[in-house]
Amino acid sequence: MFEIIEKKFLNPTVVKMTVNAPLVAKKIKPGQFIILVAHEKGERVPFTVADFDREKGHVTVIYQIVGATTMLLSEMNEGDCLSDFAGPLGNPTKLEGVKRAVVIGGGLGCAIAYPQAKALSNNGCEVDIIAGFKNRDLVILEEEMKAVSNNLYITTDDGSYGEKGLVTDKLRLLASKKKYDLVIAIGPVIMMKFCEMAAREFDLPIIVSLNPMMIDGTGMCGGCRVRVGGEVKFACVDGPDFDGHLVDFDSLMKRNRSYAEEEQKGVAKHKCRIGRTEP
Ligand code: FES
Repeated sequence: MFEIIEKKFLNPTVVKMTVNAPLVAKKIKPGQFIILVAHEKGERVPFTVADFDREKGHVTVIYQIVGATTMLLSEMNEGDCLSDFAGPLGNPTKLEGVKRAVVIGGGLGCAIAYPQAKALSNNGCEVDIIAGFKNRDLVILEEEMKAVSNNLYITTDDGSYGEKGLVTDKLRLLASKKKYDLVIAIGPVIMMKFCEMAAREFDLPIIVSLNPMMIDGTGMCGGCRVRVGGEVKFACVDGPDFDGHLVDFDSLMKRNRSYAEEEQKGVAKHKCRIGRTEP
């Protein structure tokens, strides 16, 4: 059993949870993920690790409450135990030899971008972070990101905090003044696509994390498949990180849209069956 050591709401729908998992903490690296099961009959859910402490044997995940399992998790408290917490899974991000990097996080993507920035900073790399959010209420990990970066730039869509605008505007501005060895972008697929386009304009290498595409994290459901450099890859097996210049973002977004449409149809059908709407 894996005890919850700390649980904290970072905003009304995002929770940070630190779990006692010494074997995972011993080996996990930035970019890798774990699969947890909240209780005996619960589903397996993959989460990319947001932080870890090898000495204490603790691993931290950050998640948004979007479905049954994350709702259940958010109701568990410090001292409660998860029934399973397996990992590390996936491939670590390749960060060796990077001297100057810009790490971009979009919304919850900041939870995955943070350990990458921390590892780069620990390696002596100069790190700029661009963190984008819809508005002030959704800002997370500001102090943590500040602590591991030379410069932290926060942008919000509505200008309620930091600078008003998109992360890509800031990326273009910074890239026009500094030469980076690497861009790392983690967030919604559309944000990663536009970061890739901006990085291409400045001839910069870019790594993107396709962690948000994962469903069961086992390589069997097919939910995370993606075309990279003309080949079919699976984020949970071959990633989650990929060379952003090789990812076929358009087909990925098309598939996401079709999933969303199917989901909406399913919800409407269900409501119709239980008599909550007219057929
Ligand atoms: Fe199911 Fe990768 S998450 S195949």
